[in-house]
Amino acid sequence: MSLLNIVNCLDPILRKKCQRVDNIDDSLITLTEDMIETMYDSSGLGLAANQIGRTSDLFVIDVGIEQEKRDPVVIINPVITASEDEVMGEEGCLSIPDIFAEIKRAQHVEVKGYDLRGNEVRYEAEGFLARAFQHEMDHLKGGLFWDNLSKAKRDMLKRKFKKKLKELQT
Ligand code: CO
Repeated sequence: MSLLNIVNCLDPILRKKCQRVDNIDDSLITLTEDMIETMYDSSGLGLAANQIGRTSDLFVIDVGIEQEKRDPVVIINPVITASEDEVMGEEGCLSIPDIFAEIKRAQHVEVKGYDLRGNEVRYEAEGFLARAFQHEMDHLKGGLFWDNLSKAKRDMLKRKFKKKLKELQT
């Protein structure tokens, strides 16, 4: 297994809609293993394919978030099939390191997709896990967590991010 490079929010691939996966082969399986390793190495709880420079419609996520034990899964061609109740909560992103904002999300979601064997999977989630699902779904559609904030708020966070980036590069 190997660690992958996570692109930051200035990379245009994060604005691309990911493409449906029709064929699950060995290279895709290896990719998802590497994504899981990369996610944990970066202390993340979810990672979408475009964050590591690919446009496959899949993400990895730790569905053990609420149980405080690791339970990483791969979800291919995911869709949110139900969502209810809105809640505000703090959110961050591995592609926007060290920047956090209060984001409104559904409190409960149902997500359907496929696992690496091509079998249909279905997850019901609430709270932080539901938030993580919605966050990763946004990535696959070319979205970032700050897209629905006011322009003023988003510009402020972008400036903060760019400043941070400069600090890291010097
Ligand atoms: Co993210």
